Amino acid sequence: MKLVAGNWKMNGSLAANRALLGGLAEVSGVEVAVCVPYPYLAQLQERPAGLGLGAQDVSEYSAGAYTGEVSASMLAEFGCRYVIVGHSERRALFADDDATVGRKALSALQAGLVPIVCVGETLAEREAGQVMSVLGRQLGAVLEVLGAAQLGRVVLAYEPVWAIGSGRSASAAQVGEVHAGIRDWLGARGVAANAVRILYGGSVKADNAAEIFAVRHVDGGLIGGASLIAPEFMAICHAAVA
Ligand code: 13P
Repeated sequence: MKLVAGNWKMNGSLAANRALLGGLAEVSGVEVAVCVPYPYLAQLQERPAGLGLGAQDVSEYSAGAYTGEVSASMLAEFGCRYVIVGHSERRALFADDDATVGRKALSALQAGLVPIVCVGETLAEREAGQVMSVLGRQLGAVLEVLGAAQLGRVVLAYEPVWAIGSGRSASAAQVGEVHAGIRDWLGARGVAANAVRILYGGSVKADNAAEIFAVRHVDGGLIGGASLIAPEFMAICHAAVA
């Protein structure tokens, strides 16, 4: 079954969330979750049936004098199943480096959460032919912290930086090539590659979702802007039904 996860990013209000959630309905044959800003985890304790919950970041530390941080066990207490780590916005704007992303993934797993580990290249890196070397570096740092057995328990999200919020999704051929490359990379390092769900993220909309979800090795999507519009998000969820 595919996984469609909405990443609300830093959007929403109590009223706007209520309206959005009111437009979501259970879809069978696909797993659906929303990753919301921390304060709204409380509001999301009541949510449509079948809708899973996640956060967008987590501390690498478990407790203590870390002002402003939120621990994985706190997220677990609020019913989170997922937490995004290593989103390109956090890497670019908040200095989350490869090793930090690995430690955040570990702290999530230790609290029983499933980290959605994001990887992806910039346009300059793609044009320089460095896609798999960049992904290998990002994944390698996570492998180093988690080891192969635990890396087999994460969800990966391939999010090319140039496709995020740009309206320009990667093509089906580009997505297929990279997802196959990730699967091979994992298998070559002793990770149970077929157990790892690999999502695609970057300008997934209602009108291109079916084409992307049909690509081999695409196990779902991580949806930004379109997850804030109930009919769009619902259409994407329906496109992911096998
Ligand atoms: P968009 O769907 O808005 O391009 O964002 C993708 C993303 O960053 C999801 O994490």
